[in-house]
Amino acid sequence: MNISSRIPGFYKMSIEERKNYIIESFNLSDEDASRLSSQLSLPEETADKMIENVIGTFSLPLGLGLNFLIDGKDYIIPMAVEEPSIVASASYIAKIVREAGGFKTEATERIMIGQIQVVGCPDFKQAKEAVLAEKDTLIHAANDAYPSLVARGGGAEDLEVRIINEEGSPYSQMLIVHLYVNTCDAMGANIINTMAESLAPVVEHLTNGKVYLRILSNYADRCLAKATCTIPPALLESEGFTGEEVRDGVVHAYEFAASDPYRAVTHNKGIMNGIDPVIIATGNDWRAVEAGAHAYAARDGQYSSMTTWSVDEQGNLVGELELPMSLGIVGGASRVHPRAKLAYNILKVESAKELARIIVAVGLAQNLGALKALVTDGIQKGHMALHSRSVAMAAGATGDLVDVIAKKLVEAQEIRVGYAKKLMEEYAK
Ligand code: MEV
Repeated sequence: MNISSRIPGFYKMSIEERKNYIIESFNLSDEDASRLSSQLSLPEETADKMIENVIGTFSLPLGLGLNFLIDGKDYIIPMAVEEPSIVASASYIAKIVREAGGFKTEATERIMIGQIQVVGCPDFKQAKEAVLAEKDTLIHAANDAYPSLVARGGGAEDLEVRIINEEGSPYSQMLIVHLYVNTCDAMGANIINTMAESLAPVVEHLTNGKVYLRILSNYADRCLAKATCTIPPALLESEGFTGEEVRDGVVHAYEFAASDPYRAVTHNKGIMNGIDPVIIATGNDWRAVEAGAHAYAARDGQYSSMTTWSVDEQGNLVGELELPMSLGIVGGASRVHPRAKLAYNILKVESAKELARIIVAVGLAQNLGALKALVTDGIQKGHMALHSRSVAMAAGATGDLVDVIAKKLVEAQEIRVGYAKKLMEEYAK
């Protein structure tokens, strides 16, 4: 059953009410409910098996991105992040896009790349030919090193050889073998590294060179996911701004990021504001996705915008985000961290491709949220409104009183817990 991601008033509920809502609507097992209820999301014994020298754990707020309609399916999206406004902004834009038909996404096959570095070949061209002549044998050998992947329908599929740093380069000439592996639903770091290490002695023998590095490349440009959305301007209208003004502002903001790296870095940081929280909540390696995403943003030689925004013939705003997505839904922290396990049961994704598609949709929503705010009221107004709600709650406000106090704090431009407490006392009288 596809559970609706539209939950009006979710933000007004107490944490306990939200948890109960999720437990009931997802019909969560007792185990999952306890994952949601326990104060300690990651037991120290589990943490101690994950990394070294453990002295404790470190928590982040876990929120839910709502309203997402992606390829006709509703998704409630767990997001682990410390920055205010991110979850609200993604959910707000998802609601607009939902009214416009939702996000459309696609993903390529999940081909990850293993690199083997060979230096000191007496004849690089000959070495390249020698490796290519044994391509099929090498692919076979790589698959023999990881038979369980082949059993799951994946495995090494192709191999290429590059010679880098030729005449005139200040660096040593080297031969780089690229092994292309379909890692199915795994992120694939262990698979690829095992395969690359297993091939190294044969590659040394074939090239008469010396192998140094044997490692996965996080520039996963054969493992891409893309999200698009098409929004009629009427849906973009906001107080004091017509939909057309907002639409054109977003396109100009995009053009700024596309042509200026100083802006592109911030623009893209805003995209990663949406992407990283889902990567983290699902126990994936956010550094890998970050590194790949930024490299992809510079694929044409200049660091540029990860998204594109344009206007179609009907005057709609059209957004697109394509990124490498080296992530998995099996193995690693994704199946060890109790809250990550819970995240999968809320997301209900069936493949790494599906998770990748969702994540780029969230990134696209996050980008539009930031740009829409930037081209209208500016980013601070929304931040302050949200901040005022936390301040009201810190002062003890609950239920509808949160919004009443928060509004007064903003009006008085005094967003302080002390002032909120004073307002509460007045209200009590
Ligand atoms: C803040 O975390 C993110 C923004 O700076 C993104 C942007 O400028 O596009 C608002």
